Amino acid sequence: MKTKLVIFGITGDLSTRKLLPALAQIISTGDFDDLSVVGVSRQDINVNELLSAKLGDTSLESRITGFGMDTTNLEDYRRLKEFINLGDEEQLLLYLSVPPGASSGIVELLGQAGLNMPEAKLLLEKPFGIDVESAKQMINHVGTYYDETQVYRIDHYLAKEMTQNIIAFRGGNALFDHIWNSGAIEKIEVVAQEEIGIEGRTQFYEQTGALRDVLQGHLMQLLALVLMDVPRGMDWDDATKMRLEALNAVALADPSQAVRGQYAGYRDEVGNTSSQTETFAAVHLTSNASQWQGVPILLATGKAMDKKTTEVRVHFRKSHESQTNCLIFNIQPHEGIEIELHTKRPGYDHELESQTLSFMYPAEKKLPDAYEQVIVDAIRSRKSLFASSEEVLRAWEILTPVQESWSSRTDDLKLYEKGSSLDAIIA
Ligand code: BG6
Repeated sequence: MKTKLVIFGITGDLSTRKLLPALAQIISTGDFDDLSVVGVSRQDINVNELLSAKLGDTSLESRITGFGMDTTNLEDYRRLKEFINLGDEEQLLLYLSVPPGASSGIVELLGQAGLNMPEAKLLLEKPFGIDVESAKQMINHVGTYYDETQVYRIDHYLAKEMTQNIIAFRGGNALFDHIWNSGAIEKIEVVAQEEIGIEGRTQFYEQTGALRDVLQGHLMQLLALVLMDVPRGMDWDDATKMRLEALNAVALADPSQAVRGQYAGYRDEVGNTSSQTETFAAVHLTSNASQWQGVPILLATGKAMDKKTTEVRVHFRKSHESQTNCLIFNIQPHEGIEIELHTKRPGYDHELESQTLSFMYPAEKKLPDAYEQVIVDAIRSRKSLFASSEEVLRAWEILTPVQESWSSRTDDLKLYEKGSSLDAIIA
């Protein structure tokens, strides 16, 4: 089927850093000859100039047409509809790569202009609200114009190669499948640390903070993949339902167990000397599912930390202190899976030494970027790597007690030096 992909915000940061390179890669496979792109921006753009300036590569030129419009003007959407001129046997993907405040108005006008025909799919970027109430409103608003089956909510962490490997690894290997429960597992940690700060995104970050930016979506989704039942026969179509079941069993977060921090210098960066916005957030959770009762879970994320890693660490119960017990999914930057092992040190004495049993993709193997996967799955109507409205709402619900507590107090924000470690902040 022919696909027409319309990107709102073609000149923006996400588009030029992620979407256009992802499209170039997808098209280079030769499997998507039926894909064409319309790049929407405020002014008519010279696509060729944009591509060579931002990508240093004009190979996409023959596939992209620029379309200048005022995204607050209904007439312009009617013009867009005519310009797209969707034919029989064609589908339309509408990708909203726009600032958070802009998407709801665009959705409304798309709907009013009739760009919500059954052949249309709407791809939305986070944030999906700022709390449970605003998320509900947003979902209802989108639901006025688009059926849930047409809505693709992007959480690019779900589409990362190693994230998908959590399901593959759990379901594909009997060894782990059988012991994936509280009988064998002692605790679970899902941690995303970044060395970078907020990189000039002052306004966005000041209104968002680490809990909303990364923990509510990206880390909750990773957790769901660890806790959920693996779909029978590894049927990925069931993954969304199973992630939701896992999240439904997670108890509401206890604010007394949550930690928030802010790196030194953040307030100067955003020009707000009394900012309470957290650049570090950690919550301790538990699940009421029978197989996970009593297993502590830590979710933590922070900017300006000592290293860049995203990991899921699964700690197994030890039967004696000198055992190793940790399985690590390295989501990034060195994608792979590691198991700490004790082995006998070669020699005449009975000594142990630590080794790592590891699976890493060879350095020369370039993994598909999450945004390639997102676009391909949307083209192919595969929804398993997108967040459903119910998942989004449940993730907010779990964090509501922490949000309420943080909005009502100011005495618990820990200031930390740039380059601090996770342990130092949560100590
Ligand atoms: C985004 C957040 O969703 O994810 C950013 O808005 C964060 O603040 C980014 O830096 C991290 O994504 P990745 O893929 O680089 O880990």
